[in-house]
Amino acid sequence: MIIAVIGAGYVGLITALCLAKIGKSVICFDMQTDKIESLKNGIAPFLEPGLPELLQEATNSGKVKFTSNINDLKDSSIAFVCVGTPNDPKTGSSDLSYLYSAIESLENVLSQSSTIVIKSTVPIGTGEDIYKKYPKKLSFASCPEFLREGSAIYDFMNPERIIIGTRNDQDKSRIIDIFGYFKDKAEFVHTNVTTAEMIKYAANSFLAMKVGFINEMARLCDSFDANIKDVSLGIGLDSRIGKAFLNPGPGFGGSCFPKDVKALSTTAQNHAKELPIINNILVSNQMHKEYLADFIVKIAQKYNQNNIGILGVTFKANTDDMRDSASLTILPMLKSKGLNAIIYDPAYTNSKPKELDNFNFVNNLQGVLDSTKIIVVLTEWSEFKGLNFNSDAIIIDFRNIYCISDMQKQNIKYYNLGRLNEGAN
Ligand SMILES: NC(=O)c1ccc[n+]([C@@H]2O[C@H](COP(=O)([O-])OP(=O)(O)OC[C@H]3O[C@@H](n4cnc5c(N)ncnc54)[C@H](O)[C@@H]3O)[C@@H](O)[C@H]2O)c1
Repeated sequence: MIIAVIGAGYVGLITALCLAKIGKSVICFDMQTDKIESLKNGIAPFLEPGLPELLQEATNSGKVKFTSNINDLKDSSIAFVCVGTPNDPKTGSSDLSYLYSAIESLENVLSQSSTIVIKSTVPIGTGEDIYKKYPKKLSFASCPEFLREGSAIYDFMNPERIIIGTRNDQDKSRIIDIFGYFKDKAEFVHTNVTTAEMIKYAANSFLAMKVGFINEMARLCDSFDANIKDVSLGIGLDSRIGKAFLNPGPGFGGSCFPKDVKALSTTAQNHAKELPIINNILVSNQMHKEYLADFIVKIAQKYNQNNIGILGVTFKANTDDMRDSASLTILPMLKSKGLNAIIYDPAYTNSKPKELDNFNFVNNLQGVLDSTKIIVVLTEWSEFKGLNFNSDAIIIDFRNIYCISDMQKQNIKYYNLGRLNEGAN
C-alpha cells in the first residue's frame, strides 16, 4: 500500500517521515515546488528537533518520495490531507480553500476505492460536507493530529491516543493497519467523522482554557504574597486536574490554539449556541498579553529606561514558528508606548520574522545583555537558562525560568509572573 501525504508542513512532513520510519511506503506531495526541491536535496524546511536526521534516514531507506506532481499519487490507496486551515479574519471561521483545492486534486487522481483521511484541523461537519459535495464519492475519514511543534517527532512516535473517525469498516481497517505499529502505546478511539473533528477542537480549546486559567491565577498571585508555582503544584497533583499545562507564560500562541478556539466559537455562534467559556478564552488571553505589556512599561518607567531587551519571540522554544506568537502582540504595544526593543531569538539569528520587520534583532545573546538593562524573557529557550547577567540588570521573567534566591544572591532586580513580586509600583 502506498500512502500519500498532502502538504509538507509541520504536520504533513512529520507524518510522512514517521510513517516511513515505521516501514510504510510514502509519497509526500506539496504544491510549493521549492519546498519539494529542498526536501529532495535533504534540506528540512523548518526548525524541528531531530528533523534533519529523520529526513536523511527516511530518504536513505527509500521509503519516502517527494513530489510536486499530483499525478504521482495515482497509485496511492490512502491519502492523508495535512494542508493548512488558517483563520479567515473576516468570518472567524477556518479558511478551507487549501483543503478544498487538495481534495479536488485528489478527486481527479485517486481511484474510486481510495480513502481520503483528513489530518488537518477542520470545522465540525467538514468531512460529511465534502462527501456530499463531490460526485466521485471517495471515502472520507478523519484522523486529527495532536503533535506539538518542538517535540513533533517524539509526539508522533509516542501517541497517547489515535482518533479514527470513519464512515465505514473498510476505512477503519485501513487506518488501523497503518497505525498498528502504535497499538501497544496508544489507545485507539473509533468514532464517526464528525465526532473525530469535534474531539480535536474540544482538546485544543480545553488546553487553551487551562493555559488561560493558570495565567489568570498568576496575575492574581501578583497581588498577594502567593506563589503560582506552588498553586500549580497544589492543584496539578489532583489527578482530576493534572499537572500539564499549568505553567504561566506570556499568553498562548502558535498555529493551533488561537485559531482553533476562534473557529470553535464561530461554529457555535453559527449554530446559535451560547458557549460563554469558549467565547472568553481568547478574551482572557488578550487581557493577559496587555497586562504583561503594561507591566513592562511600568518597570521601564520606574527605572527610567527606553530600551528593552527581549529574549525569544517564537511562541515556544525549539520551533521557528511565529504564527500568533504572544510577542506579535506585546512588542507592538511596547513600541506604541515609545519603548525600543532589542531582540534575540535563537531561531532567527541571521534573519528576522517578517511580522517584526521594524524591530531591532541582534544575532547573539550577549548583544542584548550588553545593550540594555531591562531584559524580558518571552520564550523558554534552554540557552536562556543559567545566564550570568550584569549586576545592574533588571530581569522580567515571564517564563519563570530563574530561581528567585539565585537572583537575590546576585543582587539582580528580578520580576516574574505570580511568584512573590516586589511589584511594579
Ligand atoms: N502545526 C501544528 O503543530 C499542528 C498540530 C496539529 C494539527 N495541526 C493542523 O494541521 C494542519 C496543517 O498545519 P501545519 O502547521 O502543518 O501547516 P503548514 O502551513 O506548516 O503546512 C501546510 C502545507 O500544506 C501545503 N499545501 C497547501 N495547500 C496545498 C494543496 N492544495 N496541495 C498540496 N499542498 C498544499 C503548503 O504548501 C504547506 O507546505 C492545520 O489544519 C493545523 O491546524 C497543526
